[in-house]
Amino acid sequence: MNLLAEVRALFQPALAAIVPDATKVPDFLAMIRPAQDAKNGDYQANFAMPLAKLLGRNPQKVADEIIGALPTNDVIASVVVAGPGFINLKLRDDWLAQQVQAIATEPRIGVSPTAHPRTIVIDYSGPNVAKPLHVGHLRSTIIGDALTRLLRFLGHTVITDNHLGDWGTQFGILLYGYKHHLDRAAYEQDPVRELARLYVAVRKLFRQATEEDDEGATDDPVKTACQQETAKLHAGDPENVALWQQFMPHCLAEIQVIYDRLGIQKFDHILGESFYNPLLAGVVESLLAHGQAVESNGAIVVPNAAGTIPQTPEEMKKQEPPALIRKRDGAFTYTTTDLATIRYRMETFRPDTVLYVVDFRQSLHFKTLFAAANRWGYTGTEFQHLSFGSVLGADGKPLRTRDGGVPELGELISQAVALGLEKYEASVAERTAHGHDVPELTEATKRDIAEAVGIGAIKYADLSQNRTSDYKFDYEKMLATEGNTATYMQYAYARCRAIFRKGEIDTARFRTHPPAVQLTTSQERAVALQLLRLSESLEVAAADYLPHLLTAYLWDLCKAMSRFYDECPVLTAESPELRDSRLLLVDLIGRTIQQTMELLGIRVVEQM
Ligand code: ARG
Repeated sequence: MNLLAEVRALFQPALAAIVPDATKVPDFLAMIRPAQDAKNGDYQANFAMPLAKLLGRNPQKVADEIIGALPTNDVIASVVVAGPGFINLKLRDDWLAQQVQAIATEPRIGVSPTAHPRTIVIDYSGPNVAKPLHVGHLRSTIIGDALTRLLRFLGHTVITDNHLGDWGTQFGILLYGYKHHLDRAAYEQDPVRELARLYVAVRKLFRQATEEDDEGATDDPVKTACQQETAKLHAGDPENVALWQQFMPHCLAEIQVIYDRLGIQKFDHILGESFYNPLLAGVVESLLAHGQAVESNGAIVVPNAAGTIPQTPEEMKKQEPPALIRKRDGAFTYTTTDLATIRYRMETFRPDTVLYVVDFRQSLHFKTLFAAANRWGYTGTEFQHLSFGSVLGADGKPLRTRDGGVPELGELISQAVALGLEKYEASVAERTAHGHDVPELTEATKRDIAEAVGIGAIKYADLSQNRTSDYKFDYEKMLATEGNTATYMQYAYARCRAIFRKGEIDTARFRTHPPAVQLTTSQERAVALQLLRLSESLEVAAADYLPHLLTAYLWDLCKAMSRFYDECPVLTAESPELRDSRLLLVDLIGRTIQQTMELLGIRVVEQM
C-alpha cells in the first residue's frame, strides 16, 4: 500500500491523454508529492505549470482539464486548483480508515516488495585493520548497515562486502613492533591489546608522527624500517607473511567485537585488499593489452573520463587526473586494487549497482576509479560513491580526545552507554516524582536498556543527518529525551506497549481480526495518514540512499502520535468501538516505530 503510488495511478490516464510524448508521463507523475503544508491537503501536484508551458496553454485550464478527466474513485475527497495551477488534494477519511485496518493484518504493515528488484553490491565499513577502530569508521559502518537493511526489506538482492584495508603500511608497523618491542607475555595473554599497544608505541617512535601513512621517501629510521617490513610482506617474505597470517585473526576479532556491540549484520563477504594482491598484475596487463592504459613518465595510468592525461600544471588544474595503476617503482595502488575488486565483483555477483559508502575525502578516487572502470568496459553497471561528511567535536573541529588523538570507537560507545544509563535513571526518578507509572526493572534489564539507549543514540544521531553533511558528536543532544533522537523514539515505542500492558490487552486480536477504524478527530486522521506513508517514505529514502529520510518519517510519526495522545483518550474512550479503533492505531504506531528503527539498525525495548 503505497499512498503516493495510489494517487499517481489515479492521475496516470488523465496525464497520458494530454501529454504529447508518452515517455514524459512519468516525469509529470513524479511532480505529485506529499503536501508541504498539511493545511492545503494531503498531496499536491505541481505539473500543471510545466505542462501548460509545454502545450502553450493556460496552467489553470490544464489543471481543470486533468481534474475533470480523473476516473471516479473512492480515494479522493477533494481536489482543488490553487494559485497559478497547483493541484491540492485530500484523501477520503473512510478510505484511509479502511486502508489502516487492512495493513494491520500484514506483517510488513503495508510495504510491498519492489516491482524492480536489483542486485546491489554494497561496500562499507572497510576499516584499515591492525589499528583500533576510531570515530572515522563509525559512519561508513552504520550508514552501510542501515542501507543494507532498507534495500533488503524492499526486496533487492543485497550483497555486502567489507573491503578491509588488510594489506597496507600499518602491517609494516606491526611487523617492526613485533620484531623489536614485543612483550611476549602480554601478547600471549591478550594478542589484540598487545598488537594495539605495539602499533601506538611504534608510531610514537616516528620522528614526525603524521596522521597519514606516508609511503614516500623519508629520513626517519624507524619509519624506513617499517616501510621495509611492508615491502617484504608484499614481496612474499615467508616470515612476514606468516606473521601477517598470525595477526589477522586477532585484528578481525577486535573489529568483530565492535560490530557485535553496534548490532552490525554479518557481512556476506570480507574480501580485503590482500585478497586482490595476486590479481593486480593481471589488471594492469589487461588494461595495457587493450590500449586502455598507457605509460606516462614511467608510470602506468588510465586516462581520465575525457580521455586525456593532464601533464602541465595548467592542465592539472583544469582537468581530472588519470587513474594511476602502477607507480614508477612498480608498486600497485589503491586504485589498482579497486579495479581488481570491480572485475571480481562483476564476474562473481553480476550486480546492477555497486555502492561504496566511503568518506567524502575519497570523492576524487572514486571519480577516477569509475572512469577507469568504464574505459575498461564495465559500462552497464551503476557505480555510486555514497559520500558522507565528518564527525566533528562540539567546537566544530574534527573530534579529538583530550590528548589530541582520534577517539577510539569502543570508548565512544562505552561512554554513550554509561551516559545512557545515567539519563535513564534520571528519567525514572523524574517520572516517579511526577507520579507516573514507572516499571520496576531488574538491574540486568536496566543495563540492557542503557545499551539500547546509548548505542541507539549514537546511531540515530548519525543517521538522522543528511549523510553528505558534517555533524557534531554531542552526547547531550543525542541522548535528549525530547526531539528527533533515538531515545525519544524508544520512549514512544515503550509508551505504545505500556498502554496494552496497563489495559491488560493482548495485541494479537488487533493483528488477526483488526477492528473497524474510526477517524473521529484530526489527530487520529493525521496518525492514520502517517502510518500509511511508511511505504512511500522507505522508497524515497532508498531511491537516493538517504537514511535520514527514515528518521524524518519517524519524527513526523511521533509528532502525530504525541498530538493524538494529548487529545484522544485511548483506554477511556467514549465507546468500546472507539477504544478498539484507537488501540489499533496505538499498536500500529508501535509496530511502525519498531520496523523503521529495525531498518536503521536500532533496537527498541518493551519497557522503559
Ligand atoms: N580501507 C579504506 C579506507 O579506510 C576504505 C575502503 C573503501 N572501499 C573501497 N572499495 N575502496 O580508507
